[in-house]
Amino acid sequence: MGAEVVIEGLTKSFGRQTIWRDVTLTLPPGEVSVMLGPSGTGKSVFLKSMIGLLKPDRGKCVVNGVDIVRCSEHKLYETRKLFGVLFQDGALFGSMNLYDNVAFPLREHTKKSETEIRRIVLEKLDMTGLAGAEKKLPGEISGGMRKRAGLARALVLDPEIILVDEPDSGLDPVRTTYISQLFLDVNAQSDATFLIVTHNINLARTVPDNLGMLFRKELVMFGPREVLLTSEEPVVKQFLNGRMDGPIGMSEEKDQATMAAEKAMFEAGHHAGGVEEVVGIPPQMQPTPGVPTRQGAIRRKDRVMQILHTLPPAAQEGIIESLTPAEQARYGIRPRHTVQTGPGQGQHQGQLPTDRIAQIPDAAWPSREDDTHRMRNQGQGKA
Ligand SMILES: Nc1ncnc2c1ncn2[C@@H]1O[C@H](COP(=O)(O)OP(=O)(O)OP(=O)(O)O)[C@@H](O)[C@H]1O
Ligand SMILES: [Mg+2]
Repeated sequence: MGAEVVIEGLTKSFGRQTIWRDVTLTLPPGEVSVMLGPSGTGKSVFLKSMIGLLKPDRGKCVVNGVDIVRCSEHKLYETRKLFGVLFQDGALFGSMNLYDNVAFPLREHTKKSETEIRRIVLEKLDMTGLAGAEKKLPGEISGGMRKRAGLARALVLDPEIILVDEPDSGLDPVRTTYISQLFLDVNAQSDATFLIVTHNINLARTVPDNLGMLFRKELVMFGPREVLLTSEEPVVKQFLNGRMDGPIGMSEEKDQATMAAEKAMFEAGHHAGGVEEVVGIPPQMQPTPGVPTRQGAIRRKDRVMQILHTLPPAAQEGIIESLTPAEQARYGIRPRHTVQTGPGQGQHQGQLPTDRIAQIPDAAWPSREDDTHRMRNQGQGKA
């Protein structure tokens, strides 16, 4: 199983500029999470802080009991081996061909023979659609190919945690979907924990188990995908629809006066961009047929059903609707038409009274304290 990453109160500034503060979230082991956020909100800085390349001012990032923020150089070196990272620019060595770039972590961190290294490198190059390109230098290939080579290199050590910065930049929409499929297949095969940073709304809507968003130096929310996808938070809605009307502006956040002036302009008929409003929760992409079932997705279902009663009604409804009849029976969810007469008057359609939710066979019930802790960890505070 992939490693859990627990981030608590993480704060980072450069000089007097605070990038983000008090970021608290947990990446559940083996689940796929996506972090959204406008340009410049510090998503890349966040990933670099998670692997100790940048030093946060405060807070913790704990992996297998090691706090990356405060541990010794030796522990950091050891713990970093658990991570595979695809940086925003691919970060390949310009003077090395793709083969040597991808082989680099194996030569640096393992005692494997060149024969064994060759097998692994060719397998990962094949997986990322780069078979035959091993002799090329990074300067001789397209941006999308560089990105895929960076991914091949991130995978060679069979990492427990995979961090990906903007997998779609430099990729066309079709290749972006292929790479999303690859992430889910790798996740299914390895059960590695994923965190993907992206602006790509399609990817965010269809790939992850969990979704978060950074904005105005804070984590707006982080939790099961259904929470963000049904959120009424203006910044979330604006981002998911890629429109101009909302709190996010071209260079920085808009002030009230700009917002009001723009609102009048859009109400007068000016096109705010984006396509038709995207609403609701689309089905999640699945691993390719023949690839094993995602263990992370199975654990996630139990986990989400345990915290179901803490989630906003629209998210609860979406989650319940996604259950198969067999799962509804397993979790003790009654069919919708019988719910109306339950004890919880005025509850949302499809929502169960809290005492009937998520009765997972053999699962230990979390205490109220655990609940509060989990809520904080989920960054639901502002949701
Ligand atoms: N090493 C550094 N020293 C000083 N400031 C930095 C450094 N790295 C990043 N920053 C600043 O931190 C802020 C966040 O940068 P970051 O690259 O994390 O944004 P981002 O959310 O990844 O944006 P994008 O979506 O465009 O990639 C920016 O204002 C940037 O100028
Ligand atoms: Mg970035």
